[in-house]
Amino acid sequence: MKVDVLLGLQWGDEGKGKIVDVLTPQYDIIARFQGGPNAGHTLIFDGKKHVLHTIPSGVFREGTQNVVGNGVVIDPVIFKREITQLLEAGVDPRPNLYISRRAHLIAPTHRLLDAASEQAKGKAKIGSTLKGIGPTYMDKTGRNGLRVGDLTSGKFEERYQALRTKHLGLLAQYPDFEYDLESVEAEWLAAAKELGQLQLIDTEHFLNEALDSGKRVLAEGAQGTMLDIDFGTYPFVTSSNTIAAGACNGLGVGPGRIGEVIGIFKAYCTRVGSGPFPTELLDETGEALREAGGEYGATTGRPRRCGWLDLVQLRYACRVNGVTQLAMMKADVLSGFDAIPVCHAYEHAGATTANLPFGIEPDEVTPTYSDHKGWQEDLTGVTTVEGLPVSLHDYIAMVEKEMKIPVKVVSVGPDRAQTIQR
Ligand code: IMP
Repeated sequence: MKVDVLLGLQWGDEGKGKIVDVLTPQYDIIARFQGGPNAGHTLIFDGKKHVLHTIPSGVFREGTQNVVGNGVVIDPVIFKREITQLLEAGVDPRPNLYISRRAHLIAPTHRLLDAASEQAKGKAKIGSTLKGIGPTYMDKTGRNGLRVGDLTSGKFEERYQALRTKHLGLLAQYPDFEYDLESVEAEWLAAAKELGQLQLIDTEHFLNEALDSGKRVLAEGAQGTMLDIDFGTYPFVTSSNTIAAGACNGLGVGPGRIGEVIGIFKAYCTRVGSGPFPTELLDETGEALREAGGEYGATTGRPRRCGWLDLVQLRYACRVNGVTQLAMMKADVLSGFDAIPVCHAYEHAGATTANLPFGIEPDEVTPTYSDHKGWQEDLTGVTTVEGLPVSLHDYIAMVEKEMKIPVKVVSVGPDRAQTIQR
């Protein structure tokens, strides 16, 4: 069997959690491969809303196994809180939850370093979620990190203290940054101990053996392609590989084992945090999209920046991920526009290009738009392909023609039930 990969094609918040939840009945295992509690995957069903940060979005379907892969970074306090919230919602994720021993831990000092670095950057800040993601991946690649497997190795205390000492030295370089480590450390150490009592395994063996035995695996991405450390709008990115290749090194499966690559995109675009966003709307239309789409961060509550669909950006994302099928989200939010502008090309360096260039800051590219006929109907109650308005069919056909990839799913509302499979 092969691993199908589901990931975001824009700047995150495309609705990956919802689609993973919808697709879960087709899979035996859902495996997160990168990112950490910077993610906020929202699932709504039976009138209830659930937000997951680190735990895979398969937890609500009975019998599904959920894997937190080696590419993920885990904050034990947030992880514990997620488990508590699930227990309160009547779901015990623990029997079907497997955590890679190779996944790295976010220490309290990683969070402090994240905050200190952002404060020092001032206006040039990344707009990080301040969950300690960057410093944790820095310690991973710098070969100083603390891993889940260390929790049960007998060497945890020694390794934690070494990292702590190193971090206190780094924090001393930010004299204007005030912090209180002691107030959060005890809670973190207790939560880390509890994490060590969960099912810690070698997920690379678990997953490959599962595939050998015919099990179906879906790899769940976090953030989005434009936040990828290599292919995103660097330096305004997250610190992991959010693209399909990230599933290979974030889970330990070979490239030949990747099957379908399911790319999720919104019918428009959003971004949270700093960095370039060519089709951003800084006017009342942007505000109208934000309100209609409820575009506020699931993790931080920050208002999201909104803009029109950018096909240059989407084409680039389909290319670097090798996308084989698309899911279009939030089509309902676009109801009510007479015309919907879509960016088909950029003016860049005196020429028109359909390929995303190295830099996409406002002084580097100017998006060019074509208007597409809008639709007025409220889509939130539509349950069949036939029920979708003709101009939305045309909008989808336009995306399929430009990407040369089929749109298999159209989402018309946040609920699990508001999903149309084509
Ligand atoms: P970090 O990953 O917390 O360091 O944040 C780096 C950038 O990625 C910031 O612009 C964040 O707003 C953005 N980001 C991180 N995680 C997400 C996500 O799950 N959705 C959307 N944006 C995110």
